[in-house]
Amino acid sequence: MATAQARNTYLDKHQDRFIEQLLQWLAIPSISTLSEHKDDVNKAADWVSERLTAIGFPNAKTISTKRHPLVYAEWLAHNNQPTLLIYGHYDVQPVDPIDEWDSPPFQPTIRNGNIYCRGASDDKSQIMLVLAALEAWVKEDGALPINIKILLEGEEEAGGASIAEFVPKNPELLQADAVLICDTHMLHPKQPSLVTGLRGVLYTEIAVTGAKTDLHSGSYGGVAPNPIHALCILINRLKGEDGVIQIPELAAAIPIPSVAEKLFWQEDPLHIEAALKTEMGVTELVGETEYPPLERIGLRPTFEVHGIRGGFTGEGAKTVIPATAMAKVSLRLPADLDPNKVFTWLEKAVHHNMPTGYRVQLTNLHAGKGFSIQSDNHYIRAAAEALESIYGTAPVFMREGGSIPIASLFNEILKAPVVLMGFGLPDDTIHAPNEKFSLEQFNKGMKTVAEFLGRLTT
Ligand code: BES
Ligand code: MN
Ligand code: MN
Repeated sequence: MATAQARNTYLDKHQDRFIEQLLQWLAIPSISTLSEHKDDVNKAADWVSERLTAIGFPNAKTISTKRHPLVYAEWLAHNNQPTLLIYGHYDVQPVDPIDEWDSPPFQPTIRNGNIYCRGASDDKSQIMLVLAALEAWVKEDGALPINIKILLEGEEEAGGASIAEFVPKNPELLQADAVLICDTHMLHPKQPSLVTGLRGVLYTEIAVTGAKTDLHSGSYGGVAPNPIHALCILINRLKGEDGVIQIPELAAAIPIPSVAEKLFWQEDPLHIEAALKTEMGVTELVGETEYPPLERIGLRPTFEVHGIRGGFTGEGAKTVIPATAMAKVSLRLPADLDPNKVFTWLEKAVHHNMPTGYRVQLTNLHAGKGFSIQSDNHYIRAAAEALESIYGTAPVFMREGGSIPIASLFNEILKAPVVLMGFGLPDDTIHAPNEKFSLEQFNKGMKTVAEFLGRLTT
């Protein structure tokens, strides 16, 4: 076996080329939620499939689905070695608000040691650093140390329905001893972390109708229903200023953290409360202030309004009472709750709290389950050791507030432990303008993954 040193030297020497290739991939606007980008999503799939072939994966291919293609490749060389399934997503979020970007979202630009581009952190650079690590093994050792399967999807940001259909239908193809996902972030450039839990998500749309048409606000104001106002009342009743969500069944299902976890959150030895304020640029945290911030992000449910549409917002003044209004609302959920069941609870609460005189319709746009990890296993330990060897500091184990719905399905169907080892940083502004990924993190990330693979051999 070549030394870790040799692989790391290879990675340093070829980093510029990896980045050049990454920039090509990043320039493809693979926005999965927008139908006008369907061809771009296909292009991004073909691009990474070809990259896998170039590294030496025989039969890397795209698999078409009802929506966006999956990319699959495997390299099974060793009967007596474990098999690692690597997952990532090559689709990205939309770019709006576009005016807030300092450089065009799909013209990847390097400044201050970061790559700026939509998808830079979430998740293309993180996939690319894994591919670089695999390449270093192939080039320095002539082979991969263990069996590798790679499954990438192109609709994670759109709910991931296709992969959720594919995985249960192909348990043999995907059979693995462990799963690696690099799609989360670390606590700090000098403090690596491993994720022990992800929240579930339920994304809905609430449509409200009042009168049969828009109305003059002088002629009808005082008697006419106003759907925007009704929506605001509804939203406030479902979650008021105290941050408490008024869905009784959900309130009863919120888990209580372990004593050790609660203590860690309360004591906040890593000063996460202060870091959160800096990252967000605020002086005060809102929400359920009686719970520590990390509990509010990692374990408690949320109720967020993403946007409200209705009425008049153009130039000047227009005295009109709108006939309709709509809000996009999502809930983050404790790991073990079934989001579709929560939908029925929400539906009940919406009808119960809606002011009278309106028609209201709630639609379930997508629902994904959360995930809680048993961190005491060989694969997580190998990841922790790999992180420590590259960063010089042992990782902390943390719950994340975000969601990767397929993680829980992998665990359920493949009965394999999932390692959530991401290399993003808290200020990468994923899903927001000026998304970036640090080149330093790219360098350490590929070395960590190369080290991790070596530690899995038996
Ligand atoms: N990579 C993120 C998930 C994530 C975000 C993990 C922050 C850790 C920290 C993923 O791409 C994502 O954005 N997931 C969506 C899922 C949804 C569209 C079903 C999310 O969390 O909103
Ligand atoms: Mn992601
Ligand atoms: Mn994302």
